Amino acid sequence: MSDEEEPRTLRRHERFKGDFPIVVEGLVNRFGSQTVHENLDLKVRNGEILGVVGGSGTGKSVLMRSIIGLQRPNEGNIDVFGRSITEAETDEDIRARNRWGVLFQGGALFSTLTVGENVQVPIKQFYPEISEQLLNEIARYKVVLSGLPEDAVDKYPSELSGGMRKRAGLARALAIDPELLFLDEPTAGLDPIGADKFDRLTRELQQTLGLTVFLITHDLDTLYAICDRVAVLADKRVIAVGTIPELLATDHPWIQEYFNGARGRAAQGSMAKSSEKSAARADNMMDNAPSSRA
Ligand SMILES: Nc1ncnc2c1ncn2[C@@H]1O[C@H](COP(=O)(O)OP(=O)(O)OP(=O)(O)O)[C@@H](O)[C@H]1O
Ligand SMILES: [Mg+2]
Repeated sequence: MSDEEEPRTLRRHERFKGDFPIVVEGLVNRFGSQTVHENLDLKVRNGEILGVVGGSGTGKSVLMRSIIGLQRPNEGNIDVFGRSITEAETDEDIRARNRWGVLFQGGALFSTLTVGENVQVPIKQFYPEISEQLLNEIARYKVVLSGLPEDAVDKYPSELSGGMRKRAGLARALAIDPELLFLDEPTAGLDPIGADKFDRLTRELQQTLGLTVFLITHDLDTLYAICDRVAVLADKRVIAVGTIPELLATDHPWIQEYFNGARGRAAQGSMAKSSEKSAARADNMMDNAPSSRA
């Protein structure tokens, strides 16, 4: 690659062409006597932004950690890009690792590294042969892609605002050109305008980079604004998956309270337009056939 060229994709494999890049079946997670997940099933469609909601402590982050192989479940199977994560014996067995990016709840940047160096961490891990110059170029490109000014590359996380840290975390999550992006509470702690901008950035990136996004959030505005479907965690499993109108058509008390409570109605009002795009089809709630909307 010449110096002038923009860094191209690092991917060395075919993009996933199946319908469901993530398939979770019969997942059981226990910590001591506490059962967090019991027979949890979930299928994430290729190319969608799936919002994941549920009360605090219902196991959203544990579900994400299970999917990316950081939490070995007690039972069940998880396929990512058609290969089992749960049956992988070693970390090296998890080949999909270089095909996803993760923004952890709270950011989890290395405080002793600059933003640019943080972004370089996963690149060095998976592509150790890449030259220093190319590493710098890619890091700079991802930082700008994530909506940060270019000079943020040389700043330390402590020198950034909370919103900028989220973007730096996003830049690191995008470092190795993932097909799958995991975002755990990306807009928590952001002011409404910052959250709105982050939502729009997520949508833009998903569309331009063709990402599938697993997005854990408590933010109703995010759900209305950018999520194609929403999965609801309650009673130790995913009790429903669907568009918001589809979810509203169910009578589960938690879902009704969540979306039809005062905050839910406010978000609904401000996002009325975006939610009109899909008609309520309660009978399709758990139907995981490819979307007819696309
Ligand atoms: N490593 C662990 N060891 C023991 N218990 C754990 C561990 N990780 C999570 N838990 C427990 O599992 C439950 C689910 O945790 P999790 O972090 O997934 O919740 P969450 O839905 O992400 O909540 P929040 O919305 O507050 O982030 C909690 O009761 C938590 O205490
Ligand atoms: Mg969590």
